[in-house]
Amino acid sequence: MPSQSSNVLIKVVSYSDYKADIQAVRYQVFQCEQQVAPELEFDGEDDAATHLMAYLSHSPVGTTRIRYLSDRLAKIERVAVIAQHRGLGIGRELMDVAIAYVRNQGIPEIKINAQTHARVFYDKLGFEQHGDIFDEAGIPHIEMRLHLENSRE
Ligand code: COA
Repeated sequence: MPSQSSNVLIKVVSYSDYKADIQAVRYQVFQCEQQVAPELEFDGEDDAATHLMAYLSHSPVGTTRIRYLSDRLAKIERVAVIAQHRGLGIGRELMDVAIAYVRNQGIPEIKINAQTHARVFYDKLGFEQHGDIFDEAGIPHIEMRLHLENSRE
């Protein structure tokens, strides 16, 4: 299910086929930029997850993954856009395709553990805050949820 807006190409991919591109983006964003420990970042959940990749002129610039916690709840994780390509709508495009993908699976709700600095990014996608701020990998997070029947198409 490729999606293309301007010159950004979003692809839904498997970890086995796109491991190098997924790891390249996540390594740059989470290890180099945010100093997240590799054992926390690469947590053994990737093989079973659905992954999305964003490409700009054939270069990998963004990624995220979807995990299914139950038949009624999906979790979107590891949302990352390489720093020099931020502010161009690539993160939103990745999320729009991920949300549409979950909706097509008939799953009614999406959960995110958002880094607090990115809360506005998820607000703009219709996610709402659940509960208090907590620590994950040394970074303050907040749980946010999106009910798909209420979200924009
Ligand atoms: N704070 C406030 N608003 C933000 C934001 C932030 N950190 N990041 C994006 N936005 C807003 C944009 O201004 C834009 O608003 P608009 O629709 O009114 O123009 C909208 O969200 C979409 O932004 P977009 O350009 O699509 O986001 P991006 O491509 O820069 O990607 C992240 C956003 C969060 C994925 C990116 O900053 C990133 O990879 N950060 C490092 C990794 C990270 O923290 N990931 C989140 C883990 S929970």
